[in-house]
Amino acid sequence: MKSYKIGLIKGDGIGPEIVDEAIKVLDAISVSQGFNLKYEEMLLGGAAIDEAGVPLPEETIQGVKKCDAVLFGAIGGPKWDGLERHLRPESGLLGLRKVMGTFANLRPAIVYDELINASSLKPEVVKGVDIMVVRELTGGIYFGEPREICSDRAFNTMVYTKEEVRRIAIVAFDIAMKRDKRICSVDKANVLEVSQFWRETVEEVSKDYPEVDLSHMYVDNAAMQLIREPKQFDVILTGNIFGDILSDAASMLSGSIGLLPSASIGNKVGLFEPIHGSAPDIAGQGIANPLATISSASMMLRYALGEIESADKIDGAIKKALREGYRTGDIGDYDAKEICTCSEIGDIVANYSSK
Ligand code: IPM
Ligand code: MN
Repeated sequence: MKSYKIGLIKGDGIGPEIVDEAIKVLDAISVSQGFNLKYEEMLLGGAAIDEAGVPLPEETIQGVKKCDAVLFGAIGGPKWDGLERHLRPESGLLGLRKVMGTFANLRPAIVYDELINASSLKPEVVKGVDIMVVRELTGGIYFGEPREICSDRAFNTMVYTKEEVRRIAIVAFDIAMKRDKRICSVDKANVLEVSQFWRETVEEVSKDYPEVDLSHMYVDNAAMQLIREPKQFDVILTGNIFGDILSDAASMLSGSIGLLPSASIGNKVGLFEPIHGSAPDIAGQGIANPLATISSASMMLRYALGEIESADKIDGAIKKALREGYRTGDIGDYDAKEICTCSEIGDIVANYSSK
């Protein structure tokens, strides 16, 4: 029987609750499909600060290297907000992405027909939306040097090397080849040198993909177009900070940020996490929406383990649960038959997945 080692980072806030539901679904699918998952829990973020004094302990850095994939919940919370930047939970996550070399962050924004009324936009605008945001994750202004706060000014640096742009562009083109073969590369080339360089480099890579239709858009316009006519997009390729912002905006097309997963790949071991945060305000109440994390587990099966059939079954189970009207509170106002707790929706999806 095939066996995989999965690193589990539950994190802070609602992290433990939502990861537990993803494990429930993974356990069900692995039994029904006949493979074995071994889990190893690791610390990151606030939980790591409390336990080990740092947001990214050495054991976690070493631990993830020995896994086939890592499933992650969320980190952060008011308890740790006052700490110095390098000790904050977010620094742990950024450091983990960097040491894992997961430079490509895939953030699908899909609108489930079943939830068409949950979006803040009109149904005809969002029906059928299926966008893949490909966000560069280990470069750009998030990591650029120098960075400093001085007494009278502060600065960060937006920097991209040729190789960094090339490799993320290749990921986006490869994905586009499996989809509708359209890429919109988003930058701010009318103002920033680094964006002009980004654009030229993406153009170079596109020569190897003559079938893919490449266009470019400034980020301010892209933000507007995402709300105006989201169906014009297939793959959006962009840098770290623009991708952070645009993927949050894109997530609301679907009605709730609690629905959307992400995969961070590029090196040997991938990191799979919901795109939402740790929601400290609702932590521990059992009302969080675990579907984004369950979807992330499905992306892990698809992209890291090659268990495509299992991933398809989980995706189908999520759709079925939504179609039948099972909802957590965040989407409870829309065509709900029953408002479920985090654990109840996990049970339902686990049950449907293994059928
Ligand atoms: C995300 C988050 C992170 C980011 C934070 C928590 C560091 O917003 O994954 O989108 O900015 O990348
Ligand atoms: Mn973000």
